[in-house]
Amino acid sequence: MPSEDGKIRYGVVGGGSISQGAFMPGVGQTDNSVLAALVTGDPQKAEKLAALYGIKAYRYEDYDKLLKSGEIDAVYVATPNFRHTEFVIPALEAGIHVLLEKPMATSEADCHAMIEAANRTGSKLMVAYRLHSEPGTLEIIERVRAGEFGEPRLFTSTFTQTVKASNHRSKHGFAAGPVPDMGPYPLNMVRQLFGDEPIEVTAFGSKDPKHDIGTWDTVTVALRFPGERLAHFTVSYSLPDSERFQLIGSEGEVEASPCFGYGEGVAIGYRAKRGDSCREHVHPVVDQFAGETAYFSACILNDQTPEADGQEGWRDVRVVAAIERALQTGRPQTLEHVPGRRGPQRSQAREFPLAKVPEMIDTESPTE
Ligand SMILES: NC(=O)c1ccc[n+]([C@@H]2O[C@H](COP(=O)([O-])OP(=O)(O)OC[C@H]3O[C@@H](n4cnc5c(N)ncnc54)[C@H](OP(=O)(O)O)[C@@H]3O)[C@@H](O)[C@H]2O)c1
Repeated sequence: MPSEDGKIRYGVVGGGSISQGAFMPGVGQTDNSVLAALVTGDPQKAEKLAALYGIKAYRYEDYDKLLKSGEIDAVYVATPNFRHTEFVIPALEAGIHVLLEKPMATSEADCHAMIEAANRTGSKLMVAYRLHSEPGTLEIIERVRAGEFGEPRLFTSTFTQTVKASNHRSKHGFAAGPVPDMGPYPLNMVRQLFGDEPIEVTAFGSKDPKHDIGTWDTVTVALRFPGERLAHFTVSYSLPDSERFQLIGSEGEVEASPCFGYGEGVAIGYRAKRGDSCREHVHPVVDQFAGETAYFSACILNDQTPEADGQEGWRDVRVVAAIERALQTGRPQTLEHVPGRRGPQRSQAREFPLAKVPEMIDTESPTE
């Protein structure tokens, strides 16, 4: 049962940079969601964030108590990737809906276990692909899928940043590295634009001795899709910030940048070319975290399956797993073809103004 004024009450699991810097402030921008609790291992965050947002704080050891408390309807899980499953499955089993940060999990088996728990319990599970509620992104996807640029044939993308050696992303091998962390952005985008799933994957990685993270810090991935369509993208933890993608169709092209980021000054924009015509489109900055949360809460309130459900999350994780196998073996990996999905629709777009972000408490930015 939602709160008295009909809003979905969220418990936040993990008070790290994305929770403090985006999700928690963003919830206040929505009209159908409220913060109700924080689960944290840090007593200072427990005290200060609970006071700041007027919510209760729980320790990880008391997570089950929170799930049974009647104080929340949903959790937002924003722990490191290797700690997603342990918070998602108990929540679903307790009848609590789950908004889960990407990537869904570090293994396909964990994705299947979450999907099975959601199906068995009827609790809703959405992977937090914030761009699925971002109006500019949805416009690009709709135009490409409507055939405005002809048959989409080629996708290329670059997404790079410099991650600090002290961050957990630099300490847990491939599972925390650039492919699972950043790969879902270009990967999810090309899957939406092609409306299809890859059938073959190959990858090359490099290890910069100045950024030793115990795994490939920069990875280039090539994907084959049915219908003679190709894609390639590069993700990196050891290069300055950069983000772009280009989709070339038989009759035109779309070039987008910024296309994956969020927050202050990040207005999703793209250039659309068709014949002699070339037009720039820039969308207003929106609070993408408010947008995805409002959309998920609406799905809960109206008893609808969220578009970015567990199946959607698994489809990216299965490609990430194939990329890891390709890197380990040096050989291309064949993927079973699964039919494409309808993808995110314009009706999922939400336009909330950007929230003010309070000063972070005991959490450093993951990037330099
Ligand atoms: N959608 C997006 O744009 C976006 C952007 C960045 C990250 N993400 C995703 O969000 C999740 C969290 O990322 P983040 O950048 O917020 O990470 P982060 O700043 O490192 O925060 C993770 C938090 O998880 C908690 N935690 C529990 N066990 C931990 C452990 N063993 N090691 C480290 N922290 C632990 C800590 O919170 P307490 O101190 O409160 O216990 C920590 O602050 C990841 O799945 C990531 O892929 C999504």
